[in-house]
Parts: sequence; C-alpha cells; structure tokens
Amino acid sequence: MDDLREKYIGLIADAGDEATLEDLRVQAVGKKGEISLQMRSLGQMSPEERQVMGPKLNALKDEINSALAAKKEALEDAALDERLRAEWLDVTLPARDRRAGSIHPISQVTEEVTAIFADMGFSVAEGPQVESDWHNFDALNIPGHHPARAEMDTFYMHRAEGDDRPPHVLRTHTSPVQIRSMELTGAPIRVICPGRVYRADYDQTHTPMFHQVEGLALDTDISMANLKWVLEEFVKAFFEVDDVELRFRASHFPFTEPSAEVDIRCSWEGGQLKVGEGDDWLEILGSGMVHPKVIAAGGIDPNVYQGFAFGMGIDRIAMLKYGIPDLRAFFDSDLRWLRHYGFASLDVPTLHGGLSR
Ligand code: PHE
Repeated sequence: MDDLREKYIGLIADAGDEATLEDLRVQAVGKKGEISLQMRSLGQMSPEERQVMGPKLNALKDEINSALAAKKEALEDAALDERLRAEWLDVTLPARDRRAGSIHPISQVTEEVTAIFADMGFSVAEGPQVESDWHNFDALNIPGHHPARAEMDTFYMHRAEGDDRPPHVLRTHTSPVQIRSMELTGAPIRVICPGRVYRADYDQTHTPMFHQVEGLALDTDISMANLKWVLEEFVKAFFEVDDVELRFRASHFPFTEPSAEVDIRCSWEGGQLKVGEGDDWLEILGSGMVHPKVIAAGGIDPNVYQGFAFGMGIDRIAMLKYGIPDLRAFFDSDLRWLRHYGFASLDVPTLHGGLSR
C-alpha cells in the first residue's frame, strides 16, 4: 500500500497536463484501476484482515482522489495564467489615426452641394439608375428619332427574347428624376437630385459612369432671374469666394426652353485654376426653363406652373475645386490617391461649420 501511495502521489505531482492526469485516475481508481482491484480482493480476505485493510484502502483511495482534484485545479490555474499572458492587450495605446479611412472627393462634394441647396430650401430627391427609356428620353421631350438619343452613347439593358417592349437604359443624366419628382409630389417643387449617370465614353475627361446633380424648381411665378440668382449663390458658396461672374450662353436642350449653358470666369495661371478672376471661361452646367411638354409629362399643368431646371457635373466641379487633374483617377480606387485627396470622415460639410475644412 505504501508503494502504491508513493507511486501515484509522485506521478500525480509530475503530471504536466490534464490528459496525463486523467490517465492516472483511470490507472489508479478507475473501474479496473490498481486500487479498485485491491478493494475487490477484500472479499477473499479473512474478516480480521478485512477490518484492517478495508479502511486503509478507502483512505488511500480518498487520498489519491484529492491529490487528483488538487492537481487538476493547479493545472487549470496555470492554463488560465498562460492565456492571460498570451492574450494581453495594452488598452492605453492611442486610438487609430482618424484619417485611416477617408471620404472620397465625390462624396464630399455631393455633401457640400446638398448643404448649399438645402440652405436655399431644396430637398434631395432620388431616382433609379436603371431607368425606363420613357423617363430618360420621351418624357423629357426626346422622342425616338431624336439625335440626342444617339449623342448620349446610351447603355441599353437586355430584354428577354420575344419581349418587344423598349429596353430599359442606364440613365444618361439625372433629368429623369425631374419627371419622377413631379409624379411623386406634384407642384410646387424645389429639389436637387444627385446621383450616378452612365454614357459609353472613356478618355481623360470622360468615364462611362460619372455623377450629376439635377436641380428643379416649379411654382406659379418662377423665372430665369430666379435661376440666375440661385446659381450665383451656389457658385459663391461652393467655391468659397465672395464674387464670381457667371456667363449664360444661349444653348439647346430638348427639355428646356429657353436653354442656357453656364460658364464661370476663371484663370489657369501656371496650370493652377482660380475661380472668379482671369480671362477664361469654364462650362459647369446646362440649364433653362422647363419645357411645357416636360411639365405635362410629369402630370402637372404647364398653364399654371413653370420653373427652371439645371444639370451639373459633380466630378467636374470636384476637379475644379480640389485641383484634381484626371477624371479617371476618381474611380481607380488607388489608396495613395484617396489618402491624398480624401477628406476626414468626421468633418461633415455645413455652411456654418465650413464646407471644405
Ligand atoms: N441633362 C442635361 C445633360 O445631361 C443637363 C441639363 C439638365 C440641362 C437640366 C438643362 C436642364 O447634359
């Protein structure tokens, strides 16, 4: 019995992990363990022997069991200590640099434009990027044979074989949102509609996907003078200058009459663009008084309501404001470019807080 005790107490003390300990338990006090076998042999002893050996074996079994339990706890403690050491974390380390992620200039400029027009009482409207050809063309006074359809390099969606309805298109401009806004709310209306538009074109100044913001104001007494004031206020606020000069050039769009393209005075000294001075003019948008046919297509009576609309390239004014030379870089997802031209994610542009801090 002393040999057994010495053997198992020693082995238990030396056990390095819980699996070894479990093996030892089975060997010693398991059903067929050494000590259990000894206890079974009590039956063959004389009553006198049994009286001595019985309690001794029971005591030994208890002793081994508590040695096993104590060792198990010690191993568990050691394992926990080891985990705590390995999973240690320094919570006093500084937080990550907040510029690790940044806002894309297109998102930034969209927010800036929205803030400026919101201040003038415009709300934001949206429409689908996959658009019916009726909303994108017909409702805007561009019938099927009109050359503007071809000029726009339209992407057409696929229709199932045998489906003769006209195909949907990827909207070529944000103007269909004029129609959707009229359908949705009726007049009066004062909305801007920023979003993606698509044309099959690709070079330094054209990408197949780009961004526009549409403006639409309809009421009983809105005139071209209101358009001019709104755009001047916008350009001053956007370029953060006190004075700008706009030039309204007579133009033609099927959905406005009269129509004007708008240029801003600027200079390009040393390749650096300056808005508001110099002898150059830069086209930034198309605009005009909404054509009566378009107002009627939107379900509004053109004998009661009139107003202006404009469409401006967001990418273009972003390039101008932030000195970005190549349009294509906007959509290359080059992290170095994004870090250079991106904006801090927590600086939401507002008129009172500053637009482009
Ligand atoms: N939709 C025109 C374009 O994409 C811009 C525009 C909008 C012109 C509204 C006039 C009025 O070029």
